Amino acid sequence: MKLTILTLFPEMFPSILNESIIKRAINNNLVEVNLINFRDFATNKHKTVDDTPYGGGAGMLLQVEPIYRALKSIPGSDTALKILLTPQGKLYNQSIAKDLLDNEHIILVCGHYEGFDERVRDYIDLEISIGDYVLTGGEIAALAIMDSVIRLIPGALGSEDSYIHDSFYEDSLDYPQYTKPREFDGKKVPDVLLSGNHAEIAKWRENQKQKRTKERRPDLLKKTQQ
Ligand code: ADE
Repeated sequence: MKLTILTLFPEMFPSILNESIIKRAINNNLVEVNLINFRDFATNKHKTVDDTPYGGGAGMLLQVEPIYRALKSIPGSDTALKILLTPQGKLYNQSIAKDLLDNEHIILVCGHYEGFDERVRDYIDLEISIGDYVLTGGEIAALAIMDSVIRLIPGALGSEDSYIHDSFYEDSLDYPQYTKPREFDGKKVPDVLLSGNHAEIAKWRENQKQKRTKERRPDLLKKTQQ
């Protein structure tokens, strides 16, 4: 899989790309990540990529041409899935993350400042929001999407099926987990987990999953019943 990020702030990415599971996935050639600064595609000598909105109003808007030219410069951009990060996009979730995995090449376009010229949308296949709040730009959203997709690539997590137990894997939250010590500050690990009875443990975990999802995210259960 190939991920290309169009951003005015490529320096925001290396710290995440150079750590842990993401770093290993890149080093093992499971994913290739390319960063493109679309300021390099500015059409004026001052390399500005934003301007004031027609009709007036506060702030600056990203211009369409640098983004268009940056997209055109990417080999295979015609067939890649081009995603724009915006609070106006489709609300991101685990099911979209799984769908994105089917794409060989994804281009993530990060907006910044007040917004962008509406015509940017004409060169985009999908708009995604990572939540109902406004970030200063699309970079953190792009990182969240990259992280959540890369960990689903077969072989990216150490153990093949680690993500099967994830919260949201089957529209439910994960069960509670414990590690050593057996007792801390008077709080004990549930006996069933120490019993060695795998069938009982599996049953307990399934019950806990359902209880937790019902208590915290009843909307997920409704989704499964639809
Ligand atoms: N850019 C600014 N806010 C955003 C959000 N919530 N999701 C995706 N991109 C954004």
